[in-house]
Amino acid sequence: MTAPEKTLIVFFSHTGENYAVGNITKGNTHIIADMISDATGAKTFEIVPEKDYPVSYEECIDVAKKELQSNARPAIKNDIDISEYDTIFLGYPNWWGQPPMCVFSFIESHDWTGKTVIPFITHEGSGMGGTDRKIAEACEGATVAVGKGLAVRGATAQNDQDAARKSVNKWIENFN
Ligand SMILES: Cc1cc2nc3c(=O)[nH]c(=O)nc-3n(C[C@H](O)[C@H](O)[C@H](O)COP(=O)(O)O)c2cc1C
Repeated sequence: MTAPEKTLIVFFSHTGENYAVGNITKGNTHIIADMISDATGAKTFEIVPEKDYPVSYEECIDVAKKELQSNARPAIKNDIDISEYDTIFLGYPNWWGQPPMCVFSFIESHDWTGKTVIPFITHEGSGMGGTDRKIAEACEGATVAVGKGLAVRGATAQNDQDAARKSVNKWIENFN
């Protein structure tokens, strides 16, 4: 693992009504991102779309489906210069075997040459679901830790944080 100041944790996470966990104020992936930050000392950056995804689960599904079908690249409200980081943890929820499209908006607006990218995901049964391979295709020039990312159930992240933290810490140790 590179030094904390050379490591960044980038994530997208949806708050509001979510599958299996009810109405949440801190997203499942956000919880895991903070645990990775605790374990590594690296700082986090949250991808915030210009247009928030709806709070209502049904409406969020609807918007997400349309974005996926149209291969959309929703605009992002914030940004970070990733050039000073060597290792980037990249986290997102599993949305039908895909990272949400705003994650691709972020990826495609940065230069990944020479970076090490370590994916992590929260899900409700589908696991990593091959999303790490999609990240590897999108992050041109990066070495992506395909097959070595972390997958945590959203309900575990939200409701059993001791177990989630154990998984995070064990996984991080394997990269040291
Ligand atoms: C639009 C949408 C699609 C989803 N599709 C899947 C899926 O295909 N497989 C799965 O295991 N979970 C799926 N989920 C559940 C999320 O991956 C899970 O709740 C995740 O922990 C949410 O993380 P977040 O709170 O960081 O956004 C989906 C959720 C949403 C909103």
